[in-house]
Amino acid sequence: MRLADRVALVTGAGSGIGRESALLFAREGARVAVADINEKLGRETVALIGKSAFFIKVDVSSWSDTQRMVQAAVERWDRLDILFNNAGIDLPQATTVVETTEEDWDRTLAINLTGVFLGSRHALPVMMAQRSGVIINMASRAGLAATPGEAAYCASKGGVVSLTRQMALDYASHNIRVNCICPGALEKPTLDRHQFLQQLSSGAVEQRKEKFARLNPLGRLCTPMDVANAALFLASDESAYITGTALLVDGGDLIT
Ligand SMILES: NC(=O)c1ccc[n+]([C@@H]2O[C@H](COP(=O)([O-])OP(=O)(O)OC[C@H]3O[C@@H](n4cnc5c(N)ncnc54)[C@H](O)[C@@H]3O)[C@@H](O)[C@H]2O)c1
Repeated sequence: MRLADRVALVTGAGSGIGRESALLFAREGARVAVADINEKLGRETVALIGKSAFFIKVDVSSWSDTQRMVQAAVERWDRLDILFNNAGIDLPQATTVVETTEEDWDRTLAINLTGVFLGSRHALPVMMAQRSGVIINMASRAGLAATPGEAAYCASKGGVVSLTRQMALDYASHNIRVNCICPGALEKPTLDRHQFLQQLSSGAVEQRKEKFARLNPLGRLCTPMDVANAALFLASDESAYITGTALLVDGGDLIT
């Protein structure tokens, strides 16, 4: 098992990529702290894993919540080997800078970028004391390339790529690796965007799926498992010599 005896903390583990990663980490031998703002979804993930998981309710944009989140994982299992800063949102509708409200800008940056800072801010002292640790941050293809009408999202994910590289540099001498993952469009968009598309019209989700799949070199959209497999690689010793990287998981989308 690739994560035997490791303790992992996954934010946004109640749904999508976070849930798939929590399940995969557990199957590979890790004990998993399942952190999410949505208690119902988070507890469902814990039920799917069983005894080697427990739930922590957290808003990743809150200093005190993220501090409590890390403390809870360490109190439970005495250490923290892997932090997957995965939680993130996309606004229900794509908006250009002029169309973006201050509130939507602040919320997107607070969850997607400040959330990564805060999780890392509280986990790093624990990992430094252990003299080992792995941090995986969730960025996006949109953090490397511009996407029409995704002003706040692109800015937040670009920030995650940059913060990843910066942290990788500062903490390499502490034997802590920091990488990020840049998925292309997933079969299912994030929860808010998914709900919005469903309200828009009954076929909107399918239309989006067909459109993106047609344009993708590998001819399909990304699945949560595609991303979970990348996270497992970055979490495991197989990536021991990799830090500061932004791993694209996009079916070749960005090369077109
Ligand atoms: N779906 C895509 O197409 C796509 C593409 C590239 C990157 N991503 C990124 O991958 C990550 C996961 O996306 P997903 O598709 O699995 O989304 P999702 O909406 O299915 O899951 C996100 C989870 O994060 C939780 N969450 C939201 N706000 C939170 C907060 N403030 N504190 C704690 N938890 C919170 C939600 O409750 C949910 O369980 C996000 O960072 C997203 O930006 C998604």
